[in-house]
Amino acid sequence: MSESRSNPTLVQLAELGLGRIGARVVTLKLPSARCSAAQPIRSTGASDAADSYGDLMRAIGPTGLIVDLTVEGILHSPARQELLSAGGRVYMISNEHPEVLERCMPNPDLVARVDHSLKRLDAAKTMRVTSEAGTDLTVDITGAPVRGGAGFLTDGQPIAYWPAGLALCFPLRKTVNGLVVLNTGDVNLTFKRYFESPVTLTIEDDRVTDIAGEGLDAVSLQSYFAAWNDPEAYTISHVGWGLNPGARWDSLHLYDKNEINGTELRAVEGNFLISTGANEFADRYTLCHFDFPMRDCSVWIDAVQVVDAGRLLPEFQ
Ligand SMILES: [Fe+2]
Repeated sequence: MSESRSNPTLVQLAELGLGRIGARVVTLKLPSARCSAAQPIRSTGASDAADSYGDLMRAIGPTGLIVDLTVEGILHSPARQELLSAGGRVYMISNEHPEVLERCMPNPDLVARVDHSLKRLDAAKTMRVTSEAGTDLTVDITGAPVRGGAGFLTDGQPIAYWPAGLALCFPLRKTVNGLVVLNTGDVNLTFKRYFESPVTLTIEDDRVTDIAGEGLDAVSLQSYFAAWNDPEAYTISHVGWGLNPGARWDSLHLYDKNEINGTELRAVEGNFLISTGANEFADRYTLCHFDFPMRDCSVWIDAVQVVDAGRLLPEFQ
């Protein structure tokens, strides 16, 4: 399933790959949707190309496999539910340069790694994150739904995505407090750029109440958040860590923005990932979404240390 603006190379590679394993392939190309938001948005995981094609989604749902090659992917869009409700199984391939997909090839070894992190995360009550740059964050993760994957559609699993290798959770209401210092070299994946100057986010009861820093990064964040004129834009969506040893931190330098979607940087082993924006488990909805992969953080869940200054500890490898 593709759309007008899908990367034709990825569509062709998917057709060839599926053909190689003996699949009978039908390629569906939907018109990309009109621009619907007042601000440019990226990396939403919610393509709207398939909106208002409910009958079509229900018709193709029962086919063996739907490979999602829409630009943003349908992970968080209504089409996902329409396909799954019709019995569909969906494999979403992120709109990345093929080299990124090769580096982050689904690896069976990653399954146990992701499962272990998710199990630990699910059982824990508190997450604490610190860094030398000044991050000091506490999240009450009691009952916070966990999500993650290794890039495989295993038995009974209706949807998966590639690249994968993340473990995260969606904190419930009024559970996130502290300081997050986005340091030089951390990443703003909505803008697809590395931070070149530190930015300090003050977070009180899930809400970013202050964005401080000298330089373009702070100014740009303040401006983009404010332009939404939406209090929910400033709230925390998800927190977690990267587990994919194939994902490379420096890759953003090597590609043009339209060649990648940034999934690789979210999955880098030992990163801490914090995001602002929609969190259905806290009953908050907004189109403004930031993913901030951070390096050199230390992460604890309860008394167990997961990451030490950006290095994933052996129990979690
Ligand atoms: Fe996110």
